[in-house]
Amino acid sequence: MLNPGFITLSLAIGGPPSAIADQAAVQRGEKVVEEWCRDCHVRDGEDLSADMAPPYEMIVAVPGRDRAWFEKFLHEDHFPMTTFRLFETEKADVVEWLLDLQKRGK
Ligand code: HEC
Repeated sequence: MLNPGFITLSLAIGGPPSAIADQAAVQRGEKVVEEWCRDCHVRDGEDLSADMAPPYEMIVAVPGRDRAWFEKFLHEDHFPMTTFRLFETEKADVVEWLLDLQKRGK
């Protein structure tokens, strides 16, 4: 069942359904990142101390980081992130979020 908020939002945006779906994936991806990735990755503008990982704004700005690169990255074990076991749908959402961040950064 669609909740009224969703319908209002869709009408307000007025874009094609795929654009709305993408935006929903971006928002889900952001939640995954907030929940699982912020222990190590600093926010943009925060101090990057020795034991912290770079902010995503920096990561997505590196040349050559496209959808394929992010998808590959999320499917590899990556030290020290070897304990990460996201669901496939969560990985896909995180990729959408990263690509959206990259788009907004330009
Ligand atoms: C245990 C700490 C830790 C957690 C939690 C963590 N990361 Fe990282 N991540 C790192 C470190 C450290 C680096 C930088 C060193 C490296 O690239 O090996 C990094 C680098 C990255 C990079 C860029 C790699 C590159 O080559 O530039 C991406 C993309 C990334 N992490 C995504 C994520 C995502 C998505 C999550 C959440 C699912 C996450 N990380 C959670 C520690 C962590």
